[in-house]
Amino acid sequence: MSNTNHDSTGVEQHHKSQRKHVTLFSNRFTFILAAAASAIGLGNLWRFPSLAAKYGGGAFLLVYLLLVVTFGFTLMVAEIAIGRRTGKSAIDAFRSFGQRYAAIGVLTALVPVIITPYYCVIGGWISKYLFTYLSGGGAATADGGGFFSGFIATSGEPLGWTALFVVLVMLVVGLGVEKGIEKLNGVVMPMLLLFTIGISIYALTIPGALDGLAYYIIPHLSDISIATVVAAMGQMFFSLSLAMGIMITYGSYTSRDTDIEKSVRQIEIADTALAFICGLMIIPAVFAFSGVEGARQAGPGLLFITLPQVFAQTGFATVLGAVFFFAVFFAALTSAISLAETVVSFAMDRFGLSRRKAALAVFVVILLLAIPPTLGFSDWGAATLTIGAAQMSILDVMDFISNSVLMPLVALLVCLFVGWWRGPDVVIDEVKATKSARFASEGLFKVMIRWVAPLFLLIILISSILNGLGVVSI
Ligand code: PHE
Repeated sequence: MSNTNHDSTGVEQHHKSQRKHVTLFSNRFTFILAAAASAIGLGNLWRFPSLAAKYGGGAFLLVYLLLVVTFGFTLMVAEIAIGRRTGKSAIDAFRSFGQRYAAIGVLTALVPVIITPYYCVIGGWISKYLFTYLSGGGAATADGGGFFSGFIATSGEPLGWTALFVVLVMLVVGLGVEKGIEKLNGVVMPMLLLFTIGISIYALTIPGALDGLAYYIIPHLSDISIATVVAAMGQMFFSLSLAMGIMITYGSYTSRDTDIEKSVRQIEIADTALAFICGLMIIPAVFAFSGVEGARQAGPGLLFITLPQVFAQTGFATVLGAVFFFAVFFAALTSAISLAETVVSFAMDRFGLSRRKAALAVFVVILLLAIPPTLGFSDWGAATLTIGAAQMSILDVMDFISNSVLMPLVALLVCLFVGWWRGPDVVIDEVKATKSARFASEGLFKVMIRWVAPLFLLIILISSILNGLGVVSI
């Protein structure tokens, strides 16, 4: 049995042939493209700018960048290597090292089950905006927030858009055609990049925006608190698609010709560059429209409130909005597909379901779980939770549980598993199994995975939980 086969690095070929639904990525480029398609999404466009605006701008940016090149790098290398070595998705990957590790996989599998539903809720909002701009009504969205809050405060409409988005995602996953969709990324992602750069440059010319630029890029160290670090850490996991099994699954689809370290660097650069530009596009503009207080109080609606105001100033808002939200829609779709794909591949591996049956079951679950976060802004609006100093909607609570609690926990377990229980060689050997690979950052990797990351994650986790329980306020 594979689960006692600890030391063989050749196990993966055996397992791959057992997974009927698996196709290997044909080369490094297609792998990077797929991983980037998963990474680049609402995390960059919607989540990053709101968080950066809220948590001190430059302070958040600095912490985030440091985390990406250290923690993000270490974890992504570890996940991809574990996936490639075992040839399995998360649950079975950990189990194949021994039954006692199976729980790590199960916990990992839980994360996308929480994220996918609320991700699709935001996907629904994007769909609504795309439709509004396409049908010529975009101007109405530029009213500084009334349109947006009015929309999410109804229940039927947002539910309808969410359902539509979920149907689309599950159709793609159920038919197994995501590779085709991801190819389109080669066109849409560069388009998104061009737009975000263009819009950023324009936004910087709005009177008052330069103060916002300073806020965004100049770190004030006094703004760095535990809350900043917790938020930046959660954002890093979310944006890089880490700590939820995706990179394990993708790693299981890659061959040994792929240089893991190089790939990880490239995925990180693409994802982080785009997040940075999205901040440029939104934060200086929020400043121009509503000053520093407006920025700090920014909720999750920044993308939906500030950008239409920027578009409105250009004189060709309708076209710009339509094309822009098309690109955002696409980025959200490909990320949602990768999220749903993980859940579906678990269902297939665990319960031996066919792809279509698994997709149908997952579809129902996601749809049901998407109802509470949608209604949390309308009919169930009273159902807020006070976490630390913050009042949270149902969507925020799901986001908090996955990004600030479960993901650090999964990441901690992965560090302990690789760093201590199995030893870093389980990853290092796999990285070096690629003929040309040198693993230049091996030293960094070892120190991070054994010492720095686990200690740090433990602190983050404890403070997150204490904060959640109201014991301390961070
Ligand atoms: N990384 C994606 C984003 O930034 C979201 C995502 C998270 C996708 C986890 C897949 C897995 O939008």
